[in-house]
Parts: sequence; structure tokens; C-alpha cells
Amino acid sequence: MRVFITKDYEEMSERAFEIVKELVVENPYAVLGLATGTTPLGLYGRMKADHKKNGTSYRHVRTVNLDEYMGLPAVHEQSYAYFMKKNLFDGLDIDLNNTHIENGMAPSAEEECENYNRLLKMLRQDIQILGIGSNGHIAFNEPGTPFNSQTHVVELAESTIKDNARLFKDVSEVPRKAFTMGLKNIMDAKKIVVLANGANKAKAVKEAIQGNMSENVPASILQSHEDCTFICDEQAAALL
Ligand code: F6R
Repeated sequence: MRVFITKDYEEMSERAFEIVKELVVENPYAVLGLATGTTPLGLYGRMKADHKKNGTSYRHVRTVNLDEYMGLPAVHEQSYAYFMKKNLFDGLDIDLNNTHIENGMAPSAEEECENYNRLLKMLRQDIQILGIGSNGHIAFNEPGTPFNSQTHVVELAESTIKDNARLFKDVSEVPRKAFTMGLKNIMDAKKIVVLANGANKAKAVKEAIQGNMSENVPASILQSHEDCTFICDEQAAALL
């Protein structure tokens, strides 16, 4: 596991952008595993700006997203499908048919999970971008999730509901369940880049990188990935 410590959020985002751009230029058919949340916004902003300025093309790139709230349609402003369109895809030349995320409105959750696992087998991530929760979660794999988990439905932890409530009008509007890639689906990626910024991530970053590998800290599984890089700003790295 490699750890880069950057001065601030902007430098963290720039480093991540350089890695993604190099991959896409080298392999125009790359599969990008993407995350939502506030952490990757600087990365996505740079991808869009670079596409506009330098014409870096995403026409053949395929994407798979980590997770989606259950019960929210793709047009709902708080759905992760909407987030990706607004914050990344609309600013690229990507074919939306090549972008994939769990269907929050799927009539059968079980079938949706099976379908997504099948899709991930065909679209193995060349790179998986991750954020990290203040409780050490990755995607919506909360503490206690088995390391060998695949796509499944989760009940969100109270701490995650609270963390995410800032994006909703009221905490009562935050969905209580979500679809998420499992830890095994994430570990199947050829390369993993974890981004972390801010003091509220410092404890999770320390436990993930230097703690024992334990299902109590889902991100600690990344210690056993052969190509995983953490890019943390100074605040997130403060306890290392
Ligand atoms: C998002 C996701 C989550 C976030 C994590 C950090 O798709 O799977 O695990 O990466 O909750 O969220 P932010 O970036 O908002 O601090």
C-alpha cells in the first residue's frame, strides 16, 4: 500500500487526476470505478476541465459506480445516478450507455444485486476510486461487513445517515437502505486509489492503514490489495 500526503484538498485532487488521465490516455476503453460524495468532486472538476481544454476523450470509457440509495429514481436530485451525471458525465463526451450504477428502483433487490455482480465480472475496474467514511466504511460497506461480500443491500449506519444528511433538506429524508458493491467487488479492481481529506477522516485513515486488518474497519481490507494508493491531505494524515 502506498501513501501520498498532500498539502491540501487541491493537491490531493490533482494527484488523483494525473493518475486517471494517464490511464484513460493509455487505454481509451478503460473501466473506471467511481465514487460519489464530496471527496472526489475536485478530481471530477479537473477531468471535466481537462476534457474541455485538451480534448481528452471518454467516448469509449466505461464506468461502474459503487453504490446507490434504495428507493430513489435516477432523476431524484439526491440519487447517486443524478450526482454522477451532474458532477461528471455531463461535462465529458462519455456515452451514458457506458455508465453503470445500481438501479435504486429495481423491483427485485436480489436480482439487481445478481445483475450487478455479473456486470462487474465483465467490467473489471482498471481503477477504482474510493472515498472513506469517518467510520472506516468504503462504498456503503459499514463496519462488520464480511470481507468476501459482493453487491448487496445495506441498512445504513446512523453515523452515515448523519454524515449524509447535509445533502438532504432534513435527516428524515435520507434513505435508510442502499445498494452497494461488496468488499470483494472492490478488491477485484486492478488498481485502487483512496482519497481522504479533512480532520474528520484522520482516525479512519489511521485505522485503515496502520490498524489490524479487521471487518470492524472495512477499509483495512485494502492493506491486502496489491496496488492500492491512499492520497490524503495533511489533516486526514495527521494521525499517521
Ligand atoms: C460514495 C461512497 C462513500 C463515500 C464516503 C465518503 O459513493 O461510497 O463510501 O466515499 O462516505 O464520503 P464523502 O466523500 O462525502 O466524505
